[in-house]
Amino acid sequence: MNDAMLSAEGIHQYYGGSHILRDVSVSASPGRITVLLGRNGVGKTSLLKSLMGLVPIRSGTVRLAGEDISRATPYQRARAGIGYVPQGREIFARLTVEENLRMGLASKPGGTPVPTHLYELFPVLQQMLRRRGGDLSGGQQQQLAIARALASSPRLLILDEPTEGIQPSIIKDIGRVIRRLADEGLDGHPVAILLCEQYYDFAAELADEFLVLERGSVIARGDRAAMQQPEIRGLVAI
Ligand SMILES: Nc1ncnc2c1ncn2[C@@H]1O[C@H](COP(=O)(O)OP(=O)(O)OP(=O)(O)O)[C@@H](O)[C@H]1O
Ligand SMILES: [Mg+2]
Repeated sequence: MNDAMLSAEGIHQYYGGSHILRDVSVSASPGRITVLLGRNGVGKTSLLKSLMGLVPIRSGTVRLAGEDISRATPYQRARAGIGYVPQGREIFARLTVEENLRMGLASKPGGTPVPTHLYELFPVLQQMLRRRGGDLSGGQQQQLAIARALASSPRLLILDEPTEGIQPSIIKDIGRVIRRLADEGLDGHPVAILLCEQYYDFAAELADEFLVLERGSVIARGDRAAMQQPEIRGLVAI
């Protein structure tokens, strides 16, 4: 556990009186992909938002590289090295691709350029720099959302259902980029990846470790080999 980039323990979270997350612990290590599985409405997004500071937790601890960030704002967490790709992408439809990428640099000093290695990961974005975000296909928007999160060179990348509503060829491209980030790092430093998914085959191909949420509790976790067991597929397959 000492080498974890992210280490969250005993997370409880509520929306009003509804107890959404119940004693959830999750960690993510440099160079590894941790997959968060679970059916609709079990609390996956709530957990990722809690880690990013977008919703408050009632109790528990979130640590990044050993530092307690449980009470930090989303902006402070971005500065500390978390890149967040929200469910549904949330790119700015009226801004150009280049302007969207610059938004990803908000936690960096003014004048920091968009890192050119992003175009190596996503060549399609370079061809479309002047196009409006809203005019891209769903898959291209997802690639843009990932590139925007990578612009600040995060040490932890959190992705919320990046395959949702996306055509298979782009899903493959996105999977390759995620694997490459884990294997090669970014900007000369390693990256830990936490990926939330409902698409089992995509998740199983990428997972170094996994955990399964059901009604806000972790009901299974394990390594890559354990994920291939039919019981795990049965827990998440729709
Ligand atoms: N802002 C909110 N206010 C009140 N309840 C909410 C809010 N956001 C989510 N919920 C509820 O919390 C529970 C968990 O939702 P969450 O979005 O975390 O699930 P999820 O696993 O990400 O689902 P999906 O697979 O559909 O994205 C659900 O019952 C949902 O209705
Ligand atoms: Mg969700």
